[in-house]
Amino acid sequence: MSKVTVVGAGNVGATCANVLAFNEVADQVVMLDVKEGVSEGKALDIMQTATLLDFDTKVVGCTNDYAQTAGSDVVVITSGIPRKPGMTREELIGVNAGIVKTVTENILKFSPDAILVVVSNPMDTMTYLTMKSSGLPKNKVIGMGGTLDSSRFKCYLSKALNAPANEIEGLVIGGHGDTTMIPLTRFAQYKGRPVADVLDKAKLDKVVADTMVGGATLTGLLGTSAWYAPGAAAAYLVESILRDQKKVIPCCVSLEGEYGQNDICIGVPVVIGRNGVEEIIDYKLNEEEKALFEKSAAAVRATNAVLTEINIL
Ligand code: 2OP
Repeated sequence: MSKVTVVGAGNVGATCANVLAFNEVADQVVMLDVKEGVSEGKALDIMQTATLLDFDTKVVGCTNDYAQTAGSDVVVITSGIPRKPGMTREELIGVNAGIVKTVTENILKFSPDAILVVVSNPMDTMTYLTMKSSGLPKNKVIGMGGTLDSSRFKCYLSKALNAPANEIEGLVIGGHGDTTMIPLTRFAQYKGRPVADVLDKAKLDKVVADTMVGGATLTGLLGTSAWYAPGAAAAYLVESILRDQKKVIPCCVSLEGEYGQNDICIGVPVVIGRNGVEEIIDYKLNEEEKALFEKSAAAVRATNAVLTEINIL
């Protein structure tokens, strides 16, 4: 029996639960929210698609009742407030840090062995906070950012190439921020060819720029943060964990010397399997990429420092 809890039944959490159920990634999905009735209602709505979409996953909702999450294998934390148009992810720290810390404490009371997937923003700092405040080993805390950013990168590449996104390889490392993410164009491929061979520089530069503000563009269009791709990205990570797929997925993990960094959680390519973080893949970055990564890490560190300033860590 595999069990996943999704904390926060907003747009991202509900989409994640929906994808997990539709793909039968777990036997049971528990949705938990602080707002009375929201999780219960969304869980029931999802369950009413079971015969239409042909899945057997059981989805239940509860209002702040952590006992119902007991024994979860994986817990996805989406709690907190989303961005409004014009806001950066970093501006959410004051509200979201306290929420994420409390959620983590409550979750671990009932699921001490769970692997945690952090989605709440600012995601790199919330992943760091979860690691530090829980004392969990580094294989058990995974931030979702790079998974989503890489998917957006491939989407923009597919538009530029007028080709299916699934024929494109590409990954984004660094922080999950409008100015901190690093779409690695040198490693991106279309049908085995470097994308730089099939796209001119101006088009490739535009893909990179669009990817970096991918979340902000959607916030502008929707009036709130995106949810389909963020929810699916979290579910994608959960699937690689529970099915022990050992996929290489860019995501935010604790670094101990890899990429020249320590005491930080930031996006790098990781093998994700039943033990969570199974291996960090050390790509050979060139000097320009290394400089971008260092700049990104410095920005993430500056946001992490706010955790001490506001007495959360
Ligand atoms: C995004 O980029 C919610 O951070 C998330 O859409």
